[in-house]
Amino acid sequence: MNARRWMDWFEQNRLGRPEPEWHVPCPTAPEARAALARSLAHFQLGESGDGQHLLAAARKTWPDDAAYLAALETFLGEEHAHAALLARLVERHGGVLVRRHWTHGAFRVVRQIFGARWELQVLATAEIVGAAYYRILHRRSRDPVLEQACALILRDEAGHLAFHLDRFGTEQADWLPLARSIWATQFQLLLLAVSAAAWWDHRHALHALRARKTEWTREVRREGAAFLGGIAARAAELTAARVRPFPPPRAPDPIELGPVSR
Ligand SMILES: [Fe+2]
Ligand SMILES: [Fe+2]
Repeated sequence: MNARRWMDWFEQNRLGRPEPEWHVPCPTAPEARAALARSLAHFQLGESGDGQHLLAAARKTWPDDAAYLAALETFLGEEHAHAALLARLVERHGGVLVRRHWTHGAFRVVRQIFGARWELQVLATAEIVGAAYYRILHRRSRDPVLEQACALILRDEAGHLAFHLDRFGTEQADWLPLARSIWATQFQLLLLAVSAAAWWDHRHALHALRARKTEWTREVRREGAAFLGGIAARAAELTAARVRPFPPPRAPDPIELGPVSR
């Protein structure tokens, strides 16, 4: 994993952040606006964590990987930019920010049970579910400002998923196929649980945009499949690079014939 390349990526993102046209009036109907405000406030809470627990766990797990730790910190900075965007969206929809919610509390407890690798994978499930959510909002909203904010967040989230995928794939290049399969299985179970909880929490807002559960499931499945497929491809690419190719066939040595005895 080339963490320095990721630092450059996040730096470019930081410099190129088109601001949504906040002055454009919100065309969303009042009842849908209320449902969206509540839902966006919950996502805002999720994106606003300072990441100190993750950073401390990562420092313990990878003490010698300063470049990755720096990239992780920069990634967390991008999540804070999302929290700021979402706070403005909550305000735009006439809602109020929340300081706590059971989904956020439960998610934090689950995330912090084990070490950095576990925390990163729980975070990755939330990123996948988040990407599905922002994609549906982007597709179904008639509000240009919500659309612009979602487009920006989606661009960043695609980078976040590629960043985590690179880390998992690099680590898994040293694993046996059985260990990779077990990891992928438990990841999918976790993803299904996070997806079910997120649907339950955000269903009113998604219904208000005329999105059905089948659309939600399809988006989560697509994001999850791409993420797992990417990890497998990255691990396979690194494993293949270590395999020494067969040497090319060599011309047989000329046979030395000794003096012919008569
Ligand atoms: Fe985010
Ligand atoms: Fe993210």
